[in-house]
Amino acid sequence: MTEHQPTTPAPELALVPGLDQVETPAYVYDLDEARRAHGLLRRMLPQPSRLFYSLKANAHPAIVEALAGLGCSAEVCSSGELAAALEAGVAPDRILYTGPGKRDAEMTEAVKAGVGWFSVDSPAALDQAARTAEAAGVTVRCLLRINDSSPAPGQSLTMTGVASQFGADADWVLSRPGEFAARPGVELAGLHLYMGSNITDEDALVAQFTTAVSTARRITDSLGLDLRLLNLGGGFGAPYARSGPLPLFDGLARRVAGLLDAEFPGWREGGPCVAFESGRFLSGSCGSLLTRVLDVKMSHGRPVVVLESGINHLGGMSGLRRLPPLVPEVRTAVARGHGGGVLRGAIVTGPLCTPLDTWARSLDLPEVRIGDVVEVRNVGAYGLSASLLAFLGHPMPQEVVVDGGRITGISRLDLVRRNSVRLNSGGKE
Ligand SMILES: Cc1ncc(COP(=O)(O)O)c(C=O)c1O
Repeated sequence: MTEHQPTTPAPELALVPGLDQVETPAYVYDLDEARRAHGLLRRMLPQPSRLFYSLKANAHPAIVEALAGLGCSAEVCSSGELAAALEAGVAPDRILYTGPGKRDAEMTEAVKAGVGWFSVDSPAALDQAARTAEAAGVTVRCLLRINDSSPAPGQSLTMTGVASQFGADADWVLSRPGEFAARPGVELAGLHLYMGSNITDEDALVAQFTTAVSTARRITDSLGLDLRLLNLGGGFGAPYARSGPLPLFDGLARRVAGLLDAEFPGWREGGPCVAFESGRFLSGSCGSLLTRVLDVKMSHGRPVVVLESGINHLGGMSGLRRLPPLVPEVRTAVARGHGGGVLRGAIVTGPLCTPLDTWARSLDLPEVRIGDVVEVRNVGAYGLSASLLAFLGHPMPQEVVVDGGRITGISRLDLVRRNSVRLNSGGKE
């Protein structure tokens, strides 16, 4: 299959002063675009509601800070993401700590940092919360994550309604509510129903929220919860590694508000506070990857373009089928321009010594030459952090922050080995 690529350059990045001097490969994050995406999503959600930014999409401090500055709370699922949220200035009580398995040390660290909410996935996780609460002498507020009985339609990544590590099965909770009773030191005051990811169809979103709201009602009644936070998840889709606009869900706010009015009439007054989570919709469109052409050649009659970046910088998880298949819309961005030629059916690869390091197997792309810089758009989410960063030891790309049309920061992640234990040659410490 070949995909036809537009030949026009990307004017926005070409206009950023100094960007053509930045060493490649480089991710470029445009904070104005992240703010625009945030405004779009807020308008498409029922109000009042709280919006959590999921740092797994991109924990770059400038992005987290920009979104937090607009009122976003933060959803984190590791001590690294917690540190990033705190560093970006997110107030601890606006942080939700999720994940199907947490080490005691992580829980203790998060509780001591004052994290507002923990999503728990089982009775054992409730016990862990109770142990941590007792040791720290505080109350730990929890949301119980629910794995609903059947999958919601229209998901690219199904996370509910199937056997999984995420949440406790709704049937389990309903049939044995005693196992999920609050423990001393644990305030079980919320539910969490994240059902899927990357949904671009409004009806599919409404279908999953319909199921989520009705399941939440049944579980609230069965457990006798004083429900203060109802986190309905999200799954708001966004284009990945190809050009295209963010999807619009014009009727979503009205339709979900109707569902909530029917089952949780107090939600408009905050009883419960309704929340949503998003990673890719908020940060996906703000990021581009600029990477340079290292080689262009013919192989068995096909053009092959070798780039500085491969699955170590972008798309590592798509090979594992954990992301949409990578079809990079490679555009000449800061390229010299070569008179409108096209490379037909090109194989586009990275520099890694494995045939898996292939972004596209048959792509029509504007003619590029060694030294040109190409741009892959819509990779602000699940770009760098979802790649095989340590594989083969190439340097990380730079990360460039653009705000108000100007470069405001350039940084580079670094992997550093630290010795935990150093043994002498006799095997002794
Ligand atoms: C619990 C939870 N919340 C939020 C997200 C973010 O998803 P997305 O980036 O698609 O919005 C995920 C992604 O897997 C998730 O598992």
